[in-house]
Amino acid sequence: MKYENVIKLALERGFYFPSCEVYADAQAGFWEYGPSGVGLKNKFLELWRRELIRRDGMLEIDGSQIMSKSVFEASGHLGNFTDPIIRCKNCKGTFRADRTIAEVSNIEIPESADLEEFDKAINENNIKCPKCKGSFEETKKFNMMFKVGIGPEEETAFLRPETCQSIFVDFPRLFKIMRGKLPLGIAQVGKSFRNEIAPRQSLLRLREFYQAEIEVFCNPKKLDDVEKFTQIQDTQLRIQIDNELVTMTCKESVEKNIIPNKFVAYYLGLLTEFYEKTGIDITRSRFRKLGEKEKAFYAEVAFDFEVETTIGWLELVACNYRSDYDLSSHATKSKEKFEVMDNDEKVLPHVFEISMGIDRSLYTILEHNLKDDKENERTVLSLKPYLSPIHVGVLSLVKKDGLKEKTDEVYLQLKRKYDVFLDHSGAIGRRYRRLDEIGSPFAITIDHQTLEDNTITLRFRDSMDQKRMNITDLNSVLSEYTAFP
Ligand code: GLY
Repeated sequence: MKYENVIKLALERGFYFPSCEVYADAQAGFWEYGPSGVGLKNKFLELWRRELIRRDGMLEIDGSQIMSKSVFEASGHLGNFTDPIIRCKNCKGTFRADRTIAEVSNIEIPESADLEEFDKAINENNIKCPKCKGSFEETKKFNMMFKVGIGPEEETAFLRPETCQSIFVDFPRLFKIMRGKLPLGIAQVGKSFRNEIAPRQSLLRLREFYQAEIEVFCNPKKLDDVEKFTQIQDTQLRIQIDNELVTMTCKESVEKNIIPNKFVAYYLGLLTEFYEKTGIDITRSRFRKLGEKEKAFYAEVAFDFEVETTIGWLELVACNYRSDYDLSSHATKSKEKFEVMDNDEKVLPHVFEISMGIDRSLYTILEHNLKDDKENERTVLSLKPYLSPIHVGVLSLVKKDGLKEKTDEVYLQLKRKYDVFLDHSGAIGRRYRRLDEIGSPFAITIDHQTLEDNTITLRFRDSMDQKRMNITDLNSVLSEYTAFP
């Protein structure tokens, strides 16, 4: 289904909606998750923890969203975390240079290109202001961090533009107190903030957004000495090479030197296995190696995990080999020691990062799983049962004759173990449709026969099959179907 269908579903079924929407001064680029969205997000993160954090024995932290100026002086964000902007001399409107050029002339210039490249494209193609046709001033850099003033003196600090900086500055303490050994993954889920010039497409370009980031610290001399590689060596990776999409195992990707080493291939393999379990159509995904000018300023080598949607390829995860860029910068600036012992060797670890955009991932899961079932005149959100915000709807066929009370009893029995939606009112067909749209894989209906023999009907969302079963069997059936894989 298309972007417009996903937005309609999101607004009508409580997945997400604009922030402060009752006010005219609501700012673009801020969205809220409703109950269905929070349910999906929590389960997505539970899957992420199972498939990456616990599987690989990583640590998880929860750092501050506001961080001191020194952090971003050291990280390079104060100097380099910029977008190219152009200002109209006439109406003073400000636009992103790369995007305006691409929209008008189809010329793709990476956002980190030299400023002269944008000016050249604007002049050669006579690009004018999209609002008033005025001419542009020279391209400038705009820093995307939000500055905040701390205390009455308003000391300068910043909302973090990526969650991982606390992982880097906390690394010496964490390694010591958690008795760390290289390689060591440290993860964090939380909000990041970027003052985007042109936020757009709801969850896809936000100013306040969720990241799930993993930073794996390693000994750079041991990138091919990866014992656990055998776990994923046969996992298929889909890799974009020049204009061709090729599929090969993790093992082959290293042998053919397409992925630089076993260490990176191992994590790309884990990531692929994770996304397969989210219900995203993995045949519409790819790893794409970024060119020199596309990479973030801290990355030595970068692969984006991208997924095709109806509005184009979306970057869901940035996989960056950041080398010792961050640890050495923080060591120099803070004058603290960031080296650790790897057996008898003292090393300043290198970092491989798996930086996941949660909001974009959730959007893609919704788009890939939302179906228009024309034959049955319904819209179905075929989420994996373990990701559904609601596991099961509990419905009384009618409210009278003691059915309401029996339905409430079933609801009470299930609600501490599952996410259950209780619904007594409306036509039964319409109640099933509503559950189909929020992705509930099951509906239980209590009818007159239930009072006689303690059986209910269990309806399956995707097939619409209905099965009569005893209430005492419900728990085992539901726990089997809704369990994480
Ligand atoms: N930490 C990488 C990113 O935020 O894109």
